[in-house]
Amino acid sequence: MKAIISESYGSPDTLKLSEVDTPTPKQNQVLVRVHASSINFGNLVLLTGKPLLARLVFGLRKPKYPIPGGDMAGIVEAIGENVTQFQVGDEVYGDLSSSGWGAYAEHVAVDEKALVLKPSNLSFTEAAAVPMAATTALQAIRDKGMVRAGQEVLIIGASGGVGTFAVQIAKAFGAEVTAVVSTRNVDIVRSFGSDHVIDYKKEDFTNHNQTYDLILGVNGGQSISTYKRKLKGNGVFIHIGGKESQMYQTMTLGSWYSLIGKKKFSTFLQRANPKDLVFMKELIEEGKVKPVIDRSYSLSEVPKAFQYFEEGHSQGKVIITI
Ligand SMILES: NC(=O)c1ccc[n+]([C@@H]2O[C@H](COP(=O)([O-])OP(=O)(O)OC[C@H]3O[C@@H](n4cnc5c(N)ncnc54)[C@H](OP(=O)(O)O)[C@@H]3O)[C@@H](O)[C@H]2O)c1
Repeated sequence: MKAIISESYGSPDTLKLSEVDTPTPKQNQVLVRVHASSINFGNLVLLTGKPLLARLVFGLRKPKYPIPGGDMAGIVEAIGENVTQFQVGDEVYGDLSSSGWGAYAEHVAVDEKALVLKPSNLSFTEAAAVPMAATTALQAIRDKGMVRAGQEVLIIGASGGVGTFAVQIAKAFGAEVTAVVSTRNVDIVRSFGSDHVIDYKKEDFTNHNQTYDLILGVNGGQSISTYKRKLKGNGVFIHIGGKESQMYQTMTLGSWYSLIGKKKFSTFLQRANPKDLVFMKELIEEGKVKPVIDRSYSLSEVPKAFQYFEEGHSQGKVIITI
């Protein structure tokens, strides 16, 4: 089969399209014919080996997972003898980041526990946009932010892979959402449900008097004391991404603020969780969430796709079609 192989840490040019053996599923695995995958922040860590701490998980000298690709949507082609959940022909999707990666390939053999049935109203391309980005937003909003209907949520960086899901998921929980985006993204975030939009190229959201129950720092990087000022009395700030300083400040000053006051600050790392994919499948099939896709690249164009993603201006998700 054709697969993208990553033999050393480095730039997107280190990713090579190669011919490798099609895997054989073990007893608890299914063999999936991959139709689409996508790019996420985790893929960049696996590509570059940075931050260096990540090499404790991904391999000290070179990536221990030679075929990258975490998000996956495809069709079950064969099953191991102990597989109970799936049959040949099932349309599935999954986040393989805790199950050996391997989605940038024509086939992948993966533990059945990593997969769930794909949302029936999405194409494979759309389904591959969902796993990591949507569950990052879901885990931040529902599990860390514990958002409730009627609460006011500010999403800074609402136009990328995570942000476009975050707006729709917060709306699905009944929140009133304000999105902070650049001029070219104002119409897009309005189109999928933001109640209010602040164009950061034209105005500074910190100048508004409005305060929020939940602030999601998906991109950008204001100081933690600024976020503290923008939170309501029991408000919560969740760091997802953006400038590194934002993460370090959340871990240090944010922890201190959390200890001495009612406003809470935390950072978190998304974890692959098939239950969350079932939750997303339901939201998607109810029509409450729809993936926003910026552009698609073929398997041979994966290095080009990474170069585009690395620029950090994508409008929704960058997809790999296989
Ligand atoms: N904690 C976790 O587990 C976790 C998981 C996934 C991702 N992340 C992090 O979350 C962040 C977003 O990930 P992603 O996949 O959504 O990235 P992405 O798709 O590359 O996000 C890019 C989007 O952000 C916008 N943007 C860039 N700078 C901005 C700013 N200063 N203010 C507001 N918007 C800005 C860009 O549009 P403009 O340039 O036009 O503004 C673009 O639409 C990244 O930092 C990533 O590392 C964390």
